[in-house]
Amino acid sequence: MKDRIIVTSALPYANGPLHIGHIAGAYLPADIYVRYNRLKKRDILFICGSDENGVPIMLRARKEGVSPQAIVDRYHAMNKQDFEKFGISFDYYGRTSSATHRETSQGIFRRLAENGVFRLKTEKQLYDPEAKLFLADRFVYGTCPKCGYENAYGDQCEKCGTSLSPADLIDPKSAVTNTTPVMKETTHWYLPLAEIQPRLEKWIASHPDWKPNVLGQVKSWFADGLKDRAVTRDLPWGVPVPEDVAAKEGVDVENKVLYVWFDAPIGYISATKEWAQQQGDPELWKKYWQDENASLVHFIGKDNIVFHCLIFPAMLMMHGDFVLPDNVPANEFLNLEGNKLSTSRNYAVWLKDYLEKFEPDSLRYTLAANLPETRDADFSWKEFQARHNNELADIIGNFINRTFTFLKKNFDGVMPPAAAADALDEELEQKIQQARETMGEHIEHFRIKEATRELMDLARFANKYFNDKAPWKTRKEDPEQCASTLNRCANTAYALAVMMQPIMPFSAEKIWKILNAPGSPETAKWDAVGTETLPVGHRFDEVKIVFKKIEDEVIQKEIDTLQAVLDSREDKGTPPEENVEQITIDEFARTELRVGRILSAEKMKGADRLLKLQVDLGTEKRQIIAGIAQHYSPEQLTDRKVVVVANLKPAKLRGELSEGMVLAAVAEDGSLSLVAPDEATPVGARVR
Ligand code: MF3
Ligand code: ZN
Repeated sequence: MKDRIIVTSALPYANGPLHIGHIAGAYLPADIYVRYNRLKKRDILFICGSDENGVPIMLRARKEGVSPQAIVDRYHAMNKQDFEKFGISFDYYGRTSSATHRETSQGIFRRLAENGVFRLKTEKQLYDPEAKLFLADRFVYGTCPKCGYENAYGDQCEKCGTSLSPADLIDPKSAVTNTTPVMKETTHWYLPLAEIQPRLEKWIASHPDWKPNVLGQVKSWFADGLKDRAVTRDLPWGVPVPEDVAAKEGVDVENKVLYVWFDAPIGYISATKEWAQQQGDPELWKKYWQDENASLVHFIGKDNIVFHCLIFPAMLMMHGDFVLPDNVPANEFLNLEGNKLSTSRNYAVWLKDYLEKFEPDSLRYTLAANLPETRDADFSWKEFQARHNNELADIIGNFINRTFTFLKKNFDGVMPPAAAADALDEELEQKIQQARETMGEHIEHFRIKEATRELMDLARFANKYFNDKAPWKTRKEDPEQCASTLNRCANTAYALAVMMQPIMPFSAEKIWKILNAPGSPETAKWDAVGTETLPVGHRFDEVKIVFKKIEDEVIQKEIDTLQAVLDSREDKGTPPEENVEQITIDEFARTELRVGRILSAEKMKGADRLLKLQVDLGTEKRQIIAGIAQHYSPEQLTDRKVVVVANLKPAKLRGELSEGMVLAAVAEDGSLSLVAPDEATPVGARVR
C-alpha cells in the first residue's frame, strides 16, 4: 500500500443531466472506495469535474441554438450540485474550460511535441461545406462497416462498440446538415500508438491483478494492433493547439483544437492543481501525480477503458514526469427494467428527479448491492423498493429502532453496563470484527457489491442476536442480562453506523444523531470499529425512524413513467439523438422521393458492405452506391422496385459516384429490408 492515493471518476460531459447509469459506473463505487479509505485515515484525494470540450457539447449547443459556453455553464452547475446532494464527496470538481486546464493541456501537448512523440499527417477528411465544418467524431454518422448499423458515429458504433474513424463509415452524413460531405485536406498531430504498443503491453503485464473485464478488453485491443490516433481536430470549440507548436510545423492554427479525449483526462491533473491552489499550497498536486509513492486509481465505465488503460497512459509515459494508473476498476453497464438505458429517448432514471422524491441512501444502497462490477446489471424499481423496505427498513432500521426504543423505555435513554460475555455475546463480537475486516478487504479490491452484502449480513445477525437474547423477557427475570444485551446492541449500532458510512453516509449520520456519539461518522476510525465503545452512562438522543417504508403507489408511478417511454417508441431504429427533431411538411417536401427500378447490381472491390446499383427513375438513369451488400445479393436485386431519394447531393463513395439513396427499413437488431412499393406502381412515381 502506497502513502497516498489519488482517485478519479470519469469527467461527465457537461451536455446533459446525470442518470443512474452514470452513478453506478464511475461515481458511487469511487465514492464508497474513497470514504472507506478516509475512515482508514489514509491520504486520499478524490478528483472529478466536467468534460466541457468536444463534439457532444457542440451538438447540444447547436440543437438548442445557444453557445457551447452556455451549455457547459448550465450542466456543470447542475451536475456538480446533484453529485453533492447524492453525497458523492469529491475533494474538487473542476471543469475543462478553465484557464488552468487550458495551460496544463497545452503544456503536456507541447512537451510531447518537443519529445518528438507526435507524427504529423496531411490527409483529406470529410468536410461539410454548408456548415463549414470538418466532420470529426460525432459530427458524422453513417453505416457501420462492421455490423451494418445505419446510425454509427464517426468515432464509434454504439451498436457493436467498434471504434471507428469517419472514413470507415459507409454513406457518411453530416450530423449538422444531414448532407453528404466532401473531402478536404487538413493536417493533424497523431499519437503513434502502434509504436508505443510494446511499452504499453509491458506495463499492462505488470498489472495481472486488474479486473478481468478490463484486461480482456485491453488485450483484445493489443491483439488487433493499436492504431495511431489523431489528437487534434478542426473545430471551433476546445483547447487550442499551442501556436508555437503549430508555427514550428508551419500549420495554420485556426480552429485547430486538441482532441477532447486528449485534453479530458488531463482534466484530472488540472483539477488537482486547482485543488492545490485552493489548499494554499500550489505545488501539492505533484505529490499525487509525480511521486512514486502515490497510487492513481481511475473509476470509469467500460466505454472508457481504451482511453484510461492505453491512450492516457501512453501520453503520460511519453511525457515522462507522471505516475501511471495503479488500477482502473471499470464497471460494465447498468440496464433499466430489462432494457438498455437511453438518454436520447429519455429512458433513464435521472438523478435530479430521483433526488426530488427519494433519499440518496436508498439508491446508493440498491446500486451498491447490485453494481455492474463483472457483468451488466439491471435496475428495477421493484427491486429498489424491496431493498429499501425489506433490507434497509426491516433489517437495519428495525434493529436501530427496537434497540433505542427499548433503551428509552427501560433505561431512560442511558447506556447500561455490560456483563461478562456469554457464547452468544462472543459470537456477536466476532461477527463485528470479521465483518469489518472482510468488508475492508472487499472494498480495497473493488468488490463493493460483496462489501455491501457483508454489511447487511452483520445487521441481520444483530437482529437475530436481539431476538435470541429476548431482552423483553430478561427485563423481569434477569435485569443484569437485559442491561448487558442492550449495551451490546447499542455498541453494535455504533459499529454499524461507521461501517455503513461509505455506502450510506446520510443514514449513518442519522444513526449517529440517535447515538449522540462524539464527532461524526466521517471522522470515525474504521480500525476502531468493534473495539471502541460508548461508555456506560452515555446519554442517547431521541429515537427517529431512519428508513420510512416506500409505498407501492409511489413505485408504480415510476414504473408507469418508464413504461410510457417504451410505449411511445414507434421507431425502432432511431437515428442518433442529435438528429431527432421535428420538421414541417414543407421541409419534408424538400426531399424528392421517387419510385425506381434496379436495372443491375454489382459488388464493389474492397468494400464488402457496398453494392453499385444502376437505377431507372423513369426520366433518367442513376448510379447509386448502397450499403446493403450484407443483406442482399446482386442477383436478388435486379428488376426490383425501390424508393429513391432523388434530390440527394451526389457524393463519391470509395471513388464511385453515388447519385441518390435507396430507402431501407432497419430493425433494432440490424436486419435490413428495402422499402418497396406495390409492383403496379410505375417507375418515376413520386412518393409523398
Ligand atoms: N466525458 C467522457 C464520457 O462521458 C469521459 C471523460 S473521462 C476523462 O464518456 F478521462 F476523459 F476525463
Ligand atoms: Zn457496428
